[in-house]
Amino acid sequence: MNLTDAVVFAGENERRAALKFFNAAYRAEESGITQAHALAERLLPSDPELAEAFRLYGDEEGWHRHLLIEFLAHLGGSVQPMGRVTTLLYRLYGRAERMDTILLANLMFETIGSTTYRMTLGRIDEPSLRAMLTILTRDEAFHVPLNVHFMKRALEQSSRGSVLRLRIVFVLVFVALVCLPLASRPKSRAFDRLDTLELSRAYARELSRVFTRESGLPLSPPAWLVALLGVDRERIRRAEGPAVTSIAAAERAAERERVDVAEM
Ligand SMILES: [Fe+2]
Ligand SMILES: [Fe+2]
Repeated sequence: MNLTDAVVFAGENERRAALKFFNAAYRAEESGITQAHALAERLLPSDPELAEAFRLYGDEEGWHRHLLIEFLAHLGGSVQPMGRVTTLLYRLYGRAERMDTILLANLMFETIGSTTYRMTLGRIDEPSLRAMLTILTRDEAFHVPLNVHFMKRALEQSSRGSVLRLRIVFVLVFVALVCLPLASRPKSRAFDRLDTLELSRAYARELSRVFTRESGLPLSPPAWLVALLGVDRERIRRAEGPAVTSIAAAERAAERERVDVAEM
C-alpha cells in the first residue's frame, strides 16, 4: 500500500470519524487473529490439516491488524482503547468456549465486517482510503465462505441438543449485530456516511443471505426482525447465481488478484 500522500479530509470531524472506523476494524482483526490461533492450537492434536487452515486464516487477520496500525498512524492517529459496547461484545465473545459457538459468532462477525467495508468502499473516493478498504473487502469476501466451511465441519459432530443451543445463540447474536449500528453510527457516520437504518438493514440482509441459501447451516434468522427491516427473504431464497457461501464463491474469492471487489 502506498502511504506517501497525506489523506485530505473535509474537516476534523471526518478525520476523527475515520480514526474511529479504522479503530473498530483494528479490534475486529485483533479478535479474529486471537480466536483463529486459539482454535488452531486446540485442533492441532485431532485435525492437523484444519488446524493449519486456522493458523493461515489467523495470520491473514494478523496481517490486516498490522496494516491497520500503519494506516492509523498515516491518518495521524493510533490504536485507542475500546468503547463500552465494543468491550462488552468482545468480552462475551471471548467467553465462548464451545467450538461451534465460536465459529458461529466468527462467521457472523465476518459477514457484518465485510458488509461494512463494501458499503464504505462505495462511498469513499480518496485513493489511500480506497486502497485500505479494497484490501479488507477483498480478503473478508473470502473469509465468509471459509468460515461457512469451518462451521459445517463443526456441525457434523454436533448433537441435536447443541444445534438447538446454537439456534438460540444465533438469534441473540443476530439481534445484537443488527442493533450494533445504533452504537457505531454516532462515532463513524461522518466518515462512512452510512445511516443507522441503512446499515442495520444491510446487516440483516447479508446475514440472511449467508444462512438462508446455505442448506448445511440449520439456522434461520428471526423472521420478525428481518421483516421489520424490510428484507425480503423470499427474494434472497430465489436469487440466481451461486450463493455467497458456495464453493464457487470461495474459489473465486481465493484468487485474490482476480476478485471483483464489489461495492454496495
Ligand atoms: Fe481481516
Ligand atoms: Fe476476516
